[in-house]
Order: sequence, then structure tokens, then C-alpha cells
Amino acid sequence: MRKVLITGVTGFAGSHLVEFLHSRGDCEIHGIYRWRSRMENIEHLTQLITLHECDLRDAMNTYDTIARIRPDWIFHLAAQSFVPTSWVAPSESLSTNVQAQVNIFEAVRRLGLKTRIQLACSSEEYGMVYPEETPIKETNPLRPLSPYAVSKVAQDMLGYQYWMSWKVDSVRTRGFNHEGPRRGPVFVASDFAKQIADIEKGKKAPILHVGNLEAKRDFTDVRDMVRAYVLALEKCEPGEVYNIASGSCWTIQALLDHLLSLTKVKIEVKEDPARLRPSDVPILLGDNTKFVKATGWQPTIKFEQTLSDMLEYWRSR
Ligand code: GDD
Repeated sequence: MRKVLITGVTGFAGSHLVEFLHSRGDCEIHGIYRWRSRMENIEHLTQLITLHECDLRDAMNTYDTIARIRPDWIFHLAAQSFVPTSWVAPSESLSTNVQAQVNIFEAVRRLGLKTRIQLACSSEEYGMVYPEETPIKETNPLRPLSPYAVSKVAQDMLGYQYWMSWKVDSVRTRGFNHEGPRRGPVFVASDFAKQIADIEKGKKAPILHVGNLEAKRDFTDVRDMVRAYVLALEKCEPGEVYNIASGSCWTIQALLDHLLSLTKVKIEVKEDPARLRPSDVPILLGDNTKFVKATGWQPTIKFEQTLSDMLEYWRSR
């Protein structure tokens, strides 16, 4: 049995990764949580996971936890992952994301483990992308537009550096946007789906608040994304970086229109200035050729399906 450790196991992608690994039946699954982590995403999964309380910002705590588990694989998903929070709390976003990464690497290095580590890097790292640069390849310049994106560039570069300096084995996955049931309610598709569900239930006036609808994003279903993370550790080269993207993109306006087409209620759409960002990434459209060539991965769930699953999720809550 392979020993697998998931950081951020209580989060959105973490919970889907537990389900996927369990369905394969070849792993012993360990997960890290913090005392203040919300457990609702994994309530139905706790029998399947050995949970360890650990603050990844604390080097000794991280070292002791990894020494106890001695994992074959680590999926490093834990992070401050909401872009707008990183403008409100830039220092905390940077320190949380970067320190956690360094503490994991240092623990693996000092323990002399042969662990393979998947790093959840991000398409946000590309930041300011010009139309002629799409679809975006891994070789595109990184022009991060938020403190969050800078923190992900740092995590990404640490992955390269620890491989080159110490042969700590990681695969850097630059995940483009991923959505699905259990997605945190602050992210765009989940936010809009929840607002619609709340309006349908009469819990909210029929006004849907939005931010920048012109941005374009490349969406993958979270269930396809976690399958990609596993393939990354099975098949990809150490120290290398791979885009995980569907290869097509939606405007946020089109995403909104599709969600609105799934409800019978009449809803007014209103821009909320508080939802506009100091600098928003205009377009993320990924070239997944490198990853597909290495792994044979293909997304299987259409984004229309993901959106209706998300709306059903909020309707049932
Ligand atoms: N959250 C939110 N709420 N976004 C909105 C809204 C709104 O009401 N209205 C428009 N948007 C636009 C944002 O300005 C952005 O252009 C786009 O919708 C997507 O926003 P988010 O869902 O918050 O995601 P993100 O693209 O900023 O970041 C996500 O994807 C990254 C990978 O590309 C996060 O999951 C990151 O953690 C991840 O790294």
C-alpha cells in the first residue's frame, strides 16, 4: 500500500482527491488539518483518512508530522487560495503559502525521504497574458498580478530549486481554474450558483451581484483535476512543470448566462464595485499538450455539467 499525504485535505480539491484515491483502493490516505479547519467537505470521508493536526507554517510541527507518516507521495494542496484575500492580507498570503512549501521540502530533505511531491501551482502565475500568447505554454513569461500569484510563483520556483539543489522530487502542476460541488462560496461559479439557489429559496432578493464579467478562464471539473494530480506523480518528470487545463475558455459572462439558464426565477444582475479587483487577469487559456503527452490525460466532464452539479449542490444545502 502506498502511503499518501494530502495537505489541505479538508478543502475542496482535497476532499475530491480522497474520493478518487479511495476508489483506486491502492493507498493509505493521510491528511493534514488545522485546529480551525472546517470539516464539512470531508464529514462523509473521515473513516477513509488518518487525520493529523499540523500547522504547516511551523517547521518543527511539519517535520514531526512528516517523520511520523513517512509518505511515499505528498499532494500539497493547502494554501490561502482566494485571490482577493491576498490584497487584503498580502503578507499573510505570502508567508502562509511560501513557508508551508519550504517547511515540507525541508522536512523531506532532512529526513532523507524519497517522497514524490505534487505542488498545486497555478495558472494565476502567468498573470498578464497577451492575446497572441494564448493558448499559454509552460514557457510563457510569468507576470503575476496579485500577491497570491506571486506566492504561487515562489512555490513553483522552490519546486525547481529543491530539485536542482537537493534532488527533492516534485512535480509542479499549474492548475487552471477548477470547479465542482463543494467549491468554496467565494469563487465565481460557486458564488453565482449559491446566490441563485438562495434566491430560489426566497432567502435573498432576486438580485445577483457580480464583479468583472469580461475575464476569461479555462475551467476543468475538479474530478478531472484530481485525477490529473495523481497522473502527475505516476508519470511526470521530477522538477518539471505542467499546465493542467481544458484547452478552451469561457467568459465569466457566459458562465453567468449558463447558470441563469438553469433557473426559472427572474433575476436582475448588478455589478458590485467591491467585487472588482485592483488588477484582474484578463485571460487564462492553457495549452495542455505537455501534460497530455506525458500522461494521456483528457478532461471527461463538460463544464456545463460541472455548473449544473454546482447549482444542485447549493440547492440541496
Ligand atoms: N470570486 C468572484 N466573485 N470572481 C468574480 C466575480 C465574483 O462575484 N465576478 C466576476 N469574477 C471574476 C474574477 O474577477 C476573475 O476574473 C474570475 O471571475 C474568476 O475568479 P475566481 O473564481 O475568484 O478565481 P480566480 O481565477 O481568481 O482564481 C482561481 O483559479 C486559480 C487558477 O487559475 C482560484 O481557485 C485560485 O486559487 C487558482 O489558483
